[in-house]
Formats: sequence, structure tokens, C-alpha cells
Amino acid sequence: KEQPVKIMVTGAAGQIGYALVPMIARGVMLGSDQPVILHLLDIPPAAEALNGVKMELIDAAFPLLKGVVATTDVAEACCGVNIAIMVGGFRRKEGMERKDVLSKNVSIYKAQASALEQYAAANCKVLVVANPANTNALILKEFAPSIPAKNITCLTRLDHNRALGRIAQRLNIHVSDVKNVIIWGNHSSTQYPDANHATVITQSGEKSVKELIADDKWLSDEFITFVQQQGAAIIKSRKLSSALSAASAACDHIHDWVLGTPKGTWTSMGVYSDGSYGVLPGLIYSFPVTCNKGEWSIVQGLRIDEPSRARMDATAKELIEEKTLAYSCLD
Ligand code: NAI
Repeated sequence: KEQPVKIMVTGAAGQIGYALVPMIARGVMLGSDQPVILHLLDIPPAAEALNGVKMELIDAAFPLLKGVVATTDVAEACCGVNIAIMVGGFRRKEGMERKDVLSKNVSIYKAQASALEQYAAANCKVLVVANPANTNALILKEFAPSIPAKNITCLTRLDHNRALGRIAQRLNIHVSDVKNVIIWGNHSSTQYPDANHATVITQSGEKSVKELIADDKWLSDEFITFVQQQGAAIIKSRKLSSALSAASAACDHIHDWVLGTPKGTWTSMGVYSDGSYGVLPGLIYSFPVTCNKGEWSIVQGLRIDEPSRARMDATAKELIEEKTLAYSCLD
């Protein structure tokens, strides 16, 4: 009944793409009454595989899926899109320097920023998943000045969901009864998973996680390392990086951004800093946010203790270094 929403997925022939597109076509991202048209982009070496994904999407006969465009042309992929999920990017190969990887992604995100600016729908919402996610999003923001900065975000929801899951496991409760963890900073191992403000719904009302897990050391140590290292643990087990959980988190991110966060609940999103919590303005940094009517706002006024401050600053420092390195690749 509603007009279809056009959603672009870049890197759609890759692992996350393969998990993500059926979720979108089933209504996981925008709800079960919202028709969608998928625009799938990949690069020429993956064109055949991309076409295979398109064939499977058609074979699956998804009632909400009103069209599929599969292309290696960035302009065609961006044309009229309302939502852009940027999963495509250059992956680190053995023996490569960090700077070489960053440099390849800087040029990809610079070019895709211009294409989005020229061809996407006005007010297109952008989610960058590909790593280094925060810095790719920063480059996209800098090179698409006509897209409002508030429309450009990066994914830290997977880390947020991992943090919820770990606390639920530890307390032997269901994950849906835990809320308001925070991922601060970079989607990297310097991120700060913070459970200081997290709560649990119990039969006798809402209780703080700190109160329920009396073991301070677990929260300030083991829990943080677990969330920071979970990506690496998945690679070790699967010999491939997280895909289904990343795809699911991308759906959660857009779902909450467009349809709103539940009352009394926040989520984590990489968004541009307005200087909140002393974070350098302009960086793409993960903050606790609430969403309403398609707009996010950073949760204000949370008390930050000293150990938290140090961790928040350390991850900001890494983002500033990545930014400097990214800019040095532009020359
Ligand atoms: P993958 O290698 O399976 O897929 C990436 C796809 O991107 C490939 O099909 C490749 O051909 C395509 N691609 C490369 N350059 C492109 C370009 N210029 N335009 C369009 N497509 C292009 O990788 P996977 O596992 O799907 O991961 C994708 C990205 O997501 C990686 O950068 C990974 O590090 C990142 N990631 C981020 C997470 C997060 O929480 N933010 C979690 C997990 C992965």
C-alpha cells in the first residue's frame, strides 16, 4: 500500500550483502508493511556473483520486494535511493600496511560520496558498515557536503548488541530484558563498551546492571575485552568475519533510526560529534542516541567517571589519527 523505499546495498555480492538483502526484502529493516526496491552495487570482478544474488532474490518471491537493480555502475546504483547501506570496500590483504588499506577506501568513499550527492534522493540516510567504518563515513561526509551531516552514520550496533548479549548471558536472563549499554568511539578494538548506565527489567522493576553484577572487575575488564575482541573471536571460529550478526545489526540501526527507539531506551550509533561529552566536533564517533521521527539525538547528561573518560579519550585519539592518515592519502 505504501510507496516503495529504494535501498542501496554496496558490496552486495559479499558475505554481509548475502545475509542482508533477504532480511531487507522480508521487512526486517523497515517493517512488514513497507515495500522496498533494492539497488545492489558491486565491482566488475563480482558482477556475475551479484547477478546470482539478484536471481535468488527473485526466486524467493518476497511479497515486499518490488524491484531489484544489480549493477556495477555507481551512478545507476545511487539513483533516487532513500537509504544507502555501504558494505562495499577494500579488505586488508596479508602483508598490507594499514595506510594502504585506508588509502584504497578513502578513494572509494570519496567517489561514492560524489555519486550519492548527485544521484540519491534528497534526505537520503546513509549507513557505513565497511571498515574502517567511522573514517569511511567521515570521508563520505566531507565529500558529500550537500548531504546533511546528520544523515551520515556508521555501524556500531553490532558491538552494542554483543554487549547486551554478554550481560544477558552473565545474568542468565533474556537479552530483551537488558538495555542502555553504550558503545563509545571507534568501531575497532579501542571502542569503549560501557555498562555503567545499563539496566535490566526484573519482576521487581528496573535494576542497574552494576547493582546486579556486583563483581566490578568483570564489568570494567572482562566484559569490555569480550566486546572489543568478539569480532576477532568470530573470525577465529568461522575463518570468516561476522556476517549474519552484522547484517542483523545493520537492519536494527536503520529500523530504529527511521521508526524510533522505544521509550526509555537508547542505542549506539556512529554519528558526527557536535562536541557532546568533550568529543572533538566533526569526528564520526559512536554515542548513545535516541531516535524520533527519523532523527537521532545524542543522549545528554550521563555522568562519566574517570576510567570511562580515559577510555573515551583513547578511542577519540585513534579516530583523530585515522582522520589525519585518511587526509594524508588524499594528496
Ligand atoms: P566481503 O569481502 O565478503 O564483501 C565485500 C564486497 O564489497 C565484495 O563483494 C567486494 O567485491 C565489494 N566491493 C569492493 N570494493 C567495492 C566498491 N568500490 N564498490 C562496491 N563494492 C565493492 O566482506 P564482508 O564480510 O561482507 O564485509 C564487508 C565490510 O564490512 C568489511 O569492510 C568488513 O570489515 C566490514 N564489517 C563491519 C562491521 C561493523 O560492525 N561495522 C562488522 C563486520 C564487518
